[in-house]
Amino acid sequence: MNLIKNLKWRYATKHFDSLKKVSQENLNKLMEVVQLSVSSYGLQLYKVLIIEDKELREKLKPASWEQSQITDASHLFIFCNYTNVNTKNVDEFLELTAKTQDIHINNLNGYGDFIKAKIDEMTKLEQNNWTVRQTYLALGNLINACAELKIDACPMEGFDSEKYNAILGLTEQNLNATVIATIGYRLEEDSAQFHLKVRKPLNKLFEVI
Ligand SMILES: Cc1cc2nc3c(=O)[nH]c(=O)nc-3n(C[C@H](O)[C@H](O)[C@H](O)COP(=O)(O)O)c2cc1C
Repeated sequence: MNLIKNLKWRYATKHFDSLKKVSQENLNKLMEVVQLSVSSYGLQLYKVLIIEDKELREKLKPASWEQSQITDASHLFIFCNYTNVNTKNVDEFLELTAKTQDIHINNLNGYGDFIKAKIDEMTKLEQNNWTVRQTYLALGNLINACAELKIDACPMEGFDSEKYNAILGLTEQNLNATVIATIGYRLEEDSAQFHLKVRKPLNKLFEVI
C-alpha cells in the first residue's frame, strides 16, 4: 500500500529550503485534493487561503510563534472556517447540487429543511466547533497528498488565530483561521527527518469489540 509508505516518508518539516518552490501543477493537484475532501452534508463551510507572498508571511511569522516554516516554506495554507453559518449557506449548496446533478431544486427542499433544522439546533459555539472540525479533514488530505507528491509539509496550530484574522481581514468576511499548513521542500540538514516516528502501539490505539 503506497499510502503507508508515503506516511512513513513524511514528517512534520521543521526547516524548509526557502529556494525551492512547489510547481503550479502540483499546487493545482493539492487544491483539487482539498476540494474533494469530505465535509458534513457536503457543505464545505470553509475557505482556504494559499499565501505565497513573502512580505505577508513575514507579517504572519510573529503571530506564529516565530516558526521559521512560515517564511521558508514554498506556500502557506490557511484553513478558515465560516463563523456565521446561515440558511444562505445551505441554499447555495442546494443550488449547486441541483445544477451539478441536474435535479429540480424543489426535490431538495426536504433535505435542505432537515440540514437547516439540524444547524438551528446548535448553539453558535457548537456551530463554530463543527465548522472548525471540517477544516481538519481537508488538512489531513492535504498532508497525505503532499506525501504522495513528495512535497514536504507541516500541519501547524502554533499561531494566534485572532492575530491572523486581523492581519488578513478575515473577521469582516465571516472567516476565522483555524489551522495552517506549510508546504515545500525540506532543508537537507533538517534533523527532524531522521527522528523515528513515535506512535502508540496498535494494541493501545485500537480495541476490537
Ligand atoms: C493540528 C496539528 C498542529 C501542529 N502544530 C505544529 C506546529 O505549530 N509546529 C510544528 O512544528 N509542528 C506542528 N505539528 C506537527 C506535530 O507535532 C507532528 O505531526 C507530530 O509530532 C507527529 O510527528 P510527524 O508528523 O513527524 O510524524 C502539528 C500537528 C498537527 C496535526
